Amino acid sequence: MTTEKVEIFDTTLRDGEQVPGCKLEKRKKLEIAERLEAMGVDIIEAGFPISSPGDFASVKAISELIKNAKVCALSRAVEQDIIVAAEALKDAVQPRIHTGIGTSDIHIKRKFNSNQQNVLERAKNAVTFARNYAADVEFYAEDAGRTENSFLAQVCEVAIKAGATVLNIPDTTGYCLPEEYGQKIKYLKEHVKGIENVILSVHCHNDLGLATANSIAGIMNGARQVECTMNGIGERAGNTSLEEVVMILKQHEQYQFDTNIKTQMLCDTSQLVADIMGMPVQANKAIVGSNAFAHSSGIHQDGIIKHRETYEIINPADVGVNESNIVLTARSGRAALAYRAKQIGFNLSKLELDQVYQYFIKVADSLKTVNEKDLLGILKANGLKPTT
Ligand code: KIV
Ligand code: ZN
Repeated sequence: MTTEKVEIFDTTLRDGEQVPGCKLEKRKKLEIAERLEAMGVDIIEAGFPISSPGDFASVKAISELIKNAKVCALSRAVEQDIIVAAEALKDAVQPRIHTGIGTSDIHIKRKFNSNQQNVLERAKNAVTFARNYAADVEFYAEDAGRTENSFLAQVCEVAIKAGATVLNIPDTTGYCLPEEYGQKIKYLKEHVKGIENVILSVHCHNDLGLATANSIAGIMNGARQVECTMNGIGERAGNTSLEEVVMILKQHEQYQFDTNIKTQMLCDTSQLVADIMGMPVQANKAIVGSNAFAHSSGIHQDGIIKHRETYEIINPADVGVNESNIVLTARSGRAALAYRAKQIGFNLSKLELDQVYQYFIKVADSLKTVNEKDLLGILKANGLKPTT
């Protein structure tokens, strides 16, 4: 079976750090960059060096530290931005300059008060200029999601001719539907001269909750790099979640895509980013939320205890979680009570279980969850003693 590699481009330290309140000092950025590299991220977007002296210093320090991953710095299609990005990347083993410009009508008219011809020229000049400083230049067509496909194809062609190695097709405003975004990538694959010589990249925002679905649609239609962040943090409603894309590709083996991510590091890395950025992960977040492997209803608990795969499609160990969590609540049944009691040394007979369950359910009704201490109290109140 031949699998195709999808490169993971992590922008937690750039798009993720743009979130209000998530600004990080250099030391913290280095800690995250080191972890991302250890986890197997292929490209780390370290920052936007022209934006501030602090960001410049962080990109420079990450460039000095990181040896295996490529280090990328953002710039606008502006010469001074590119010069400063190149300077910050000077010591990187594998530097990449990321430059680009808005391509949708609304960006061209309202942001630049310009026209398509001028955007084509600026795209060409920016990539040509960046290639003087780096062999690896990624071009982004900002708001590609709302850019008419035929013009987007023209921009991509110009960028390729000027020397771009990667083309980023961002759905900057998170507007596209998966079908539409997938078709956009397919259209570019079929209509852009030289596209076979570059990597197409997806960069999706989550304004309609579709960032991950759109990224996957892009991959299915020919993209081979996905831009994403840990926990999906990013501007507004965030970016595509790294952990979601990686696990979708892993769990759906039939599509034969692979990444370099050591998935067992996902949960710890998620926690590290959440702690450092002060952005807690919602409990029901896919893959890394605290409830992602927790089961509280009696029917589900009974199934999980009999055979884990009845209600879990991911082995928790694959993402660094010790085991599935059987949470005792007023919705739990006898199977879960017996299971949790056994875990703390009480092997209950059928009679004991029937008796203690009636008591348990009354206590559980007054609590959100029944923790280990509560359970011990319940068992002892019923005159039970540990059997092991
Ligand atoms: O969302 C976007 O368009 C971006 C670009 C700057 C790559 O983040
Ligand atoms: Zn973005």
